[in-house]
Amino acid sequence: MTRDETRQPDQDPALWDRHVAGYEAVFEPLTDAFAARALDALGPLEGARLLDVCAGAGGAALLAAARGAEVRAVDGSPRMAARIRERAGGRRITAEVADAAALDLPPDRYDAALSCFGIVLLPDPVPALRAIRRALVPGGGVAVVTWTEPRAYELASRIGAAVAAVRPPVPGPPSSGSLPAQLRYAEPAALSALMAEGGFPGAAILRLEARLEAASARELARDLAFAPGLDALMAGLGADRPAVEAEFARALEADQGLGRVSLGAVAHVAVARRTA
Ligand SMILES: C[S@@+](CC[C@H](N)C(=O)[O-])C[C@H]1O[C@@H](n2cnc3c(N)ncnc32)[C@H](O)[C@@H]1O
Repeated sequence: MTRDETRQPDQDPALWDRHVAGYEAVFEPLTDAFAARALDALGPLEGARLLDVCAGAGGAALLAAARGAEVRAVDGSPRMAARIRERAGGRRITAEVADAAALDLPPDRYDAALSCFGIVLLPDPVPALRAIRRALVPGGGVAVVTWTEPRAYELASRIGAAVAAVRPPVPGPPSSGSLPAQLRYAEPAALSALMAEGGFPGAAILRLEARLEAASARELARDLAFAPGLDALMAGLGADRPAVEAEFARALEADQGLGRVSLGAVAHVAVARRTA
């Protein structure tokens, strides 16, 4: 896959290659909690063929396999796909490197499909949804998980507060920084419209809550660069980075103490079936 400098860091699978271990350790337990609820919404998976698009390090693939599914996992990052294979052991999971924007899938093949914080990252998720629709058997279900309610995503709001404390905002016109791709479908109407355009009209939108856990505020502050977007944000702080990490930890310790910490997060899952 060629590099495209206009993409946001989280939209570049080559950058995800550098974050396999950190993502799996720090963040995947949270995304797994959402993926588990999305799998619930897809119904019983015993014996089902399930497609996982933008599968990351394989957390959801392992959950689906544990429910009896045969999983085909796809990710654009070669190291993510390799990690899935490594974790699959003897389970019925295959993993391959592919661009979700140009999926080449057999028609009428899968009973269910999942994309957890995955295709919503793509510059245009519609072709991926249409490819998933063609690959599902009639009646097969799809679950698409996306971020929502940025204010209720405590990790992001706490990082923002720490940055603002170290670098108070300069008064003036609002920043021209673009919306993170993963927030384009935060509103249920936007997610429903995306699903409809991708061939899944009338998707049900469910609101999910889960918590990001860490052993301590200091450990989480040390591990904040677990994904390309956050890595770029932290690197962009330059000499202020240690002060921002220290402020993040200080404020979280002030609220939750020196031991385990837990930050709330909200996601939406759109669930639909292929009709005929
Ligand atoms: C936020 S992670 C989500 C991983 C996993 N689904 C989860 O919920 O933990 C996004 C994943 O999408 C992958 N990705 C990003 N753009 C992609 C593309 N164009 N094609 C395939 N995978 C892509 C990245 O490599 C990364 O593994």
